[in-house]
Amino acid sequence: MPRNIAVIGAQFGDEGKGKVIDFLAEKADVIARFNGGNNAGHTIVAEKKKFILHLIPSGILHRNKINVIGNGVVVDPEVLFEEIAHLSRGGIKVTPENLVVSSSAHMILPEHIEEDKAKGSKIGTTGRGIGPAYAAKAARKGTRVIDYIQKKEKYSEKLKPFVKDTSLLINQFLDQNKKILFEGAQGTLLDIDHGTYPFVTSSNAISGGICTGLGIGPKRIDKITGVVKAYVTRVGNGPFPTELNDKTGERIQKAGNEFGSTTGRARRVGWFDAVMAKYAARINSFDSMIITKLDVLSGLEKIKICVGYRRKEKRTEEFTTNLEELENSEPIYIVMDGWDDDISNVKQFEDLPKNAKDYLRRVEQLVKIPVSMVSLGPGREQTLILRRNEFF
Ligand code: GDP
Ligand code: IMO
Ligand code: MG
Repeated sequence: MPRNIAVIGAQFGDEGKGKVIDFLAEKADVIARFNGGNNAGHTIVAEKKKFILHLIPSGILHRNKINVIGNGVVVDPEVLFEEIAHLSRGGIKVTPENLVVSSSAHMILPEHIEEDKAKGSKIGTTGRGIGPAYAAKAARKGTRVIDYIQKKEKYSEKLKPFVKDTSLLINQFLDQNKKILFEGAQGTLLDIDHGTYPFVTSSNAISGGICTGLGIGPKRIDKITGVVKAYVTRVGNGPFPTELNDKTGERIQKAGNEFGSTTGRARRVGWFDAVMAKYAARINSFDSMIITKLDVLSGLEKIKICVGYRRKEKRTEEFTTNLEELENSEPIYIVMDGWDDDISNVKQFEDLPKNAKDYLRRVEQLVKIPVSMVSLGPGREQTLILRRNEFF
């Protein structure tokens, strides 16, 4: 059994990481965020209540868990305390017992938000000040949580009880064999180094970001799972080879309720891209894949999967982050038969319609990574485990 599991977005974010973390958190001791900030929107549906978490890790709905905001995260204190108040109104208490913030995380300051709102439109950023806060960090003129506290700013006193050396803490938890979930924000194709630059976010959303964003060594990560939607979505600008600008796309967008959790923007929609998923598997060292939103494809007569790209008359199966090449990559599809049945309440893999099983098996074959979990709806109970060994 793994002692810790990384949950990483394998596409352009919004793959359903929040749901997966909340599901796995039941058996975990610690849930830790290592990248991004409140550009994230992680949706959890528990006991018919819906919560969208932006900054606080998705383990917070469970009692007696420790949620960690690591040094790789950028923290907007106003958002943090708003989120704490919002959770409190929903009956969830957030205290220094269940939430810890790294003393060396960097702060998002009002001027970062202003700058992002003024300059982020080409990329289509969330306008939350993420890019400017990370830019200040890289330029060595940022404000760390510890600096902010010492300067006696507006939220310094309120923040203080939550603040610790989280690298020390996480390493102690690892030594104690505590069960830890590493919660990725955004997705591999939005990663600052390995995404579709410049149409990316400003942090490392890939599994490698766990080490820098929490202060642990790479040997300490046991299992790495990639979360993939059964199709692809993207909010904001940038290349998207399998994008659908037709009725089928509209249908999937509607059925999947593909509107952003953070900004409410409509998410662009396209077919599953096995080339992109294989790239994500390589960059992250996925042990397995978690496929979400399979239920959304129900009722489609035919379902396409991108298995390669045609670039300048040549076929390739390698993804590229060269924008010009990517924009000139024509997807090559295989076509699978769909299924009509509503699968959102299926409890066992065997009970899925044959064509849904075939779709999953084909995705597995193409990406060359086993599927360990399938999600059939936003609720905790709408989850199938295919490979027990990958989880707690
Ligand atoms: P995250 O950013 O990766 O945590 O994903 P988001 O929360 O932004 O977006 C995923 C959306 O899909 C949320 O509204 C979830 O409640 C919902 N969701 C997650 N898994 C499933 C699923 O298997 N089926 C359906 N229909 N919805 C899901
Ligand atoms: P979760 O964790 C989807 C996108 C923005 C924009 C680009 C840069 O919910 O999966 P930023 O504000 O980060 O500078 O914006 O990245 N983006 C996301 N898209 N899910 C997210 O997070 C995202 N976080 C940022 O739309 O295109
Ligand atoms: Mg999201």
